[in-house]
Amino acid sequence: MNSRLTIALPKGRLAQQVLKKLNAQGLPITINPSSRVLIQTDENNYEYMFVKPSDVITYVEEGVCDIGFVGSDSILEERKDIYELVDLKIGVCKMVIAGKDNDILEKSSTIRVASKYPYIAKTACTDMGINATIVKLNGSVELGPLVGLSDVIVDIYETGNTLKANNLQVLKELFDISTRLIANKASFRRKRQIIERIITILDEEVSP
Ligand code: PRP
Repeated sequence: MNSRLTIALPKGRLAQQVLKKLNAQGLPITINPSSRVLIQTDENNYEYMFVKPSDVITYVEEGVCDIGFVGSDSILEERKDIYELVDLKIGVCKMVIAGKDNDILEKSSTIRVASKYPYIAKTACTDMGINATIVKLNGSVELGPLVGLSDVIVDIYETGNTLKANNLQVLKELFDISTRLIANKASFRRKRQIIERIITILDEEVSP
């Protein structure tokens, strides 16, 4: 049995933010998120794996990693059997419905929706009484309404720059998103002490 704590980190911008937060909270971590080395170990003897943000939850559910840092958007979309432990209050953004046509949601009973989040998109439309056909894309979803692939998109809104640059607007805000600490259920039982130490560190109020 591996007693070392293994942590899934989302590659890219979010990894930098998570490491900055952990350092600020008093858990100094000396790994290099810019490196191409996908498995790194720090001086606490924690092992970090850099994975695609949307795959963090899979690594944790499968038990490859004991814990991970992931957006609440992925938790809602994937609906995996994991523990959600702490809201880090970073990576904050919103899930929205966006499009060109102001009143399309009011006037349509059927709609085509492009999204990286088919479950969230379908559920949001059903909740509004709209019958949605979902077009699953893996990125640049703003293209959907521009090229006639979809009527609207369900996607993340952070600065709003991407929507603005593509002449799209928010039609409806769905929910807030932030980064969460998650754990594999068996790991949480086996490595409870060390995981609880990390929860305590992350829960502490630290002045900015
Ligand atoms: C995300 C999201 C939007 C954009 C929103 O895409 O899907 O396109 O960021 O951010 P903004 O409101 O600050 O412009 P990402 O950058 O991850 O690229 P992708 O389209 O390849 O998924």
